[in-house]
Amino acid sequence: MTHDRTFRRWICAVCAALSLGFSALDTAAREPGKLANVMILATGGTIAGSGATSTTTVGYTAATVGVARLIEAVPELKAAANVKGEQVFQIASENMNNDYWLKLAKRVNELLKQDDVDGIVITHGTDTIEETAYFLNLTVKSRKPVVIVGAMRPSTAISADGPINLYNATILAGSDAAVGKGVLVVLNDQINGARDVTKTNTANTDTFRSWELGFLGYMQNNQPYFYRQSTRKHTADTEFDVTNLDKLPDVDIVYGYANMNRIAVDAFVAAGDKGLVHAGVGDGSLARPAVEPALVEARKKGVVIVRSSRVGNGIVARNGEAKDDELDFVVSDTLNPQKARILLMLALTKTSDAKEIQRMFYTY
Ligand code: DGL
Repeated sequence: MTHDRTFRRWICAVCAALSLGFSALDTAAREPGKLANVMILATGGTIAGSGATSTTTVGYTAATVGVARLIEAVPELKAAANVKGEQVFQIASENMNNDYWLKLAKRVNELLKQDDVDGIVITHGTDTIEETAYFLNLTVKSRKPVVIVGAMRPSTAISADGPINLYNATILAGSDAAVGKGVLVVLNDQINGARDVTKTNTANTDTFRSWELGFLGYMQNNQPYFYRQSTRKHTADTEFDVTNLDKLPDVDIVYGYANMNRIAVDAFVAAGDKGLVHAGVGDGSLARPAVEPALVEARKKGVVIVRSSRVGNGIVARNGEAKDDELDFVVSDTLNPQKARILLMLALTKTSDAKEIQRMFYTY
């Protein structure tokens, strides 16, 4: 064998060893056969909810049960991982806001730097799980598993789904298979990725779907089975850093429908928004003459405009339903409006250049 080929093989072996080393550095070097150390961060929601009777599955009170009781209610967790609990805040997740997100992301990053933390579970209301998941997907600076879990029935209900969801999430957060997969959402024995998951039913336990892009795998018989993973950047590969941020830029969403007018666009611009997401009909279409002129004027005032769609599946095509190049608009790719808002907020912490922001929408 020539020296050159030997040298190339040696270089490849060194690179492989280094990459393994780096990934091991980012995930606690746990001794084989030892239980993973998993932190459970509680934030509220139905998983921590309680109803007046065991058959109360709507009209209950969310965010009433603390993290210690959540853990006590599932003694099987002790066989799944070494768990510790922390109540980060206690809210019904329809009340989630940017301040809570910044607090949660900073705490997650702080904990994941610790060698004695192998993964994190976040218990959360299902109404905004998809948004918190995506925000963390863009701001967590680690390859260690972060798994968000909720429930569609309160802890007091017959066949409450919270305990099994929490058990599955804890198994997943402690599994090597989840390392480097980005922030994950686990309910109903399914593993969804943060970028594409959305809530699709107001009350059913199988509400979380990633629609046409598909969920990533299953939880079955105490272990994860992955069949796919995201092709977009996330977590350790993110360019966003919230460490020193105490506020996020104001970005709102304008919903499109027949007989649309410009009042909402003008109101958000007057309120000082730095960005606007338009949840258009169809392929992100803009009503003319009612809405497009308002968005063009807003852009001229420096507001970054993102064309998204209310439809739920498919790509919002650049220069399709509007002259994006000419108007200096951004398109959301496949992100739904509420996730496009999150990426636009974080993008605006780095730039207001629409072309650079468009790159970000094709990257994350
Ligand atoms: N209030 C809703 C929330 O906290 C209840 C929905 C749930 O958690 O399942 O998101």
